[in-house]
Amino acid sequence: MLSKIAICAVLGCLAAGAVFLFLLFLLAIYLYAQYTMGVCRSKTRLDGKTVIVTGCTSGIGKETARDLAKRGARLIMACRNLDAANKLKEELIKESGNSNIVARKLDLSSLSSVRDFAQQINREETRLDVLIHNAGTAEVFRKKVSEDGLEMTMATNHYGPFLLTHLLIDLMKRSKPSRIIVVTSELYVLSRLNLDNVNPTTTLPAYLYYVSKYANIVFTLELARRLEGTGVSANCLHPGLINTGIWKNVPPPASWVLNIILNTFCKNAEQGAQTSLHLAVSDELNGVSGKYFMDCRERGLTRGVQDPAKGKKFWELSETMVKLQSTDPKI
Ligand SMILES: NC(=O)c1ccc[n+]([C@@H]2O[C@H](COP(=O)([O-])OP(=O)(O)OC[C@H]3O[C@@H](n4cnc5c(N)ncnc54)[C@H](OP(=O)(O)O)[C@@H]3O)[C@@H](O)[C@H]2O)c1
Repeated sequence: MLSKIAICAVLGCLAAGAVFLFLLFLLAIYLYAQYTMGVCRSKTRLDGKTVIVTGCTSGIGKETARDLAKRGARLIMACRNLDAANKLKEELIKESGNSNIVARKLDLSSLSSVRDFAQQINREETRLDVLIHNAGTAEVFRKKVSEDGLEMTMATNHYGPFLLTHLLIDLMKRSKPSRIIVVTSELYVLSRLNLDNVNPTTTLPAYLYYVSKYANIVFTLELARRLEGTGVSANCLHPGLINTGIWKNVPPPASWVLNIILNTFCKNAEQGAQTSLHLAVSDELNGVSGKYFMDCRERGLTRGVQDPAKGKKFWELSETMVKLQSTDPKI
């Protein structure tokens, strides 16, 4: 009898300890979200400037587009779901009074879609001042392969933007000073980039998201090195932990806990757009390139992700993966 009471008491203590630790964990996330609440304070207008935001039908991209529309930019919404994009376009025109907004079809997981989109932009546009690589996917628990045989998360988050940057670079150089902005994630620290397998379909899918975000940073830093002296800058950013659709592929029961965290403690999409906006418009960043930002402030990176030799090798491998042609612009 006594031992049963003792067991119950121990179990009770363990349960209380687990609840206490979980509450402590939530508090830490809340404090982190509050501590990392950077705001873009720039009032810069973008009249006469052209901006592309990829994947802006939802989340951070949608709020980035909303703000840029209010600043008077010619806004090109580069989205795979044109119906949703056109609907949002009407909303943004009504809200901002800026009718210079267009929606264009872009599926970043498809190399031919990237080529079609770039061809249209090069044909229709006379300038491109800001390119925001915002679109992203996280195939957290499924392994998927793109129509080009590339692992889906890497195809969407890295290879599509890599090819697109090449195909638009001449237009951006002609529009200098211009800015390329890559939305990556601090989760890169959980991964490594295996240069012996840059189409890593066999790793844990969640891990592949981290790898793709690692790739975003290696790409941005190498891009900045290659663009030195051209008037085109390249910077990347972590938006924070934001309540958006990027988490939609997380299955239960993990999603139940995640939803509590996202709904209660994390930043909303408007707050998540602040660092992208800061990089796109702030005058103080004129000439700044090859940097990583979080909460509208420059932050440090691990040594591994900054390795120029890794950047050069990964660049060359990426050129092969996207089947870059000899007639395509070289960076
Ligand atoms: N939320 C966070 O906590 C967080 C943290 C760090 C970094 N990020 C990064 O922030 C960026 C924006 O994500 P979000 O959080 O705003 O998520 P989101 O709401 O899911 O937005 C992602 C956007 O990307 C688009 N997209 C996905 N696959 C695409 C493809 N193949 N071609 C073109 N567009 C595609 C989606 O379009 P559909 O509507 O058609 O699906 C959507 O508009 C991503 O790069 C993500 O990695 C987010």
